[in-house]
Amino acid sequence: MAERPYIVGNWKMHGTRAMLSEARAIDRAAQRNMRVEVAVAPPFTLIHAVHREVEQIAVGAQDCHTATEGAHTGDISAAMVADAGAKFVILGHSERRENHAESNSVVREKAEAALEAGLNLIICCGESAETRDKGKAESFVLQQLRASLPEIENPAERLTVAYEPIWAIGTGNTATPDDVAAMHAKIRGLLVELFGEEAGAAIRILYGGSVKPDNARELMALPDVDGALVGGASLSADSFMGIALAAAEAAD
Ligand code: 13P
Repeated sequence: MAERPYIVGNWKMHGTRAMLSEARAIDRAAQRNMRVEVAVAPPFTLIHAVHREVEQIAVGAQDCHTATEGAHTGDISAAMVADAGAKFVILGHSERRENHAESNSVVREKAEAALEAGLNLIICCGESAETRDKGKAESFVLQQLRASLPEIENPAERLTVAYEPIWAIGTGNTATPDDVAAMHAKIRGLLVELFGEEAGAAIRILYGGSVKPDNARELMALPDVDGALVGGASLSADSFMGIALAAAEAAD
């Protein structure tokens, strides 16, 4: 567990301006709980509005294009989300890999574009139930992550990795603490191999997949779990900040 856990809300395709009050409530609670670093990634349409409403928490995007600008109808570049107030971008989420056929190399290209625009990265990885049942979860995740990571300077500051087993997302089934700890240790090993002992140890690794206030403390207390990437439970300030509180307690 990191000294200062990192708790990130991924709002996915949820939220209109009515959610701004929730963002303000999250921000106020984050100001009272400085032992945790809190951030939210709303849909593109709310990035600027949330950015203007909050003082303490960082705002991020859930995707960006590989190009800076151009004839790409409906797409949004990293420079655009940075201009709207985003400080980071979530890339390689399994929902984008599945729904938009994003390959590892596309994720890597997007990551390069994001770094160029000054954004920090949260790169997601995670196996399907089928892959886990075949006993191939660890080899799959390591290969996926290795192929998705860009070359990066100051990785400890600019890169966060999120392990999100697909079968745990939105299902209420979290991975067992033993499985999470084992996977995070493997990911840590890869980061040390790629970026060296010091940076590899400092890069934050988040767990995601049905994290709730009542299971967060156990998950956040595991070695090499530096925080959480939260979907459904990040849509209410009460449940999201319940997770942040549990993470702070786990870090004590
Ligand atoms: P849930 O917390 O809703 O399972 O979603 C996890 C997730 O996909 C966060 O990116």
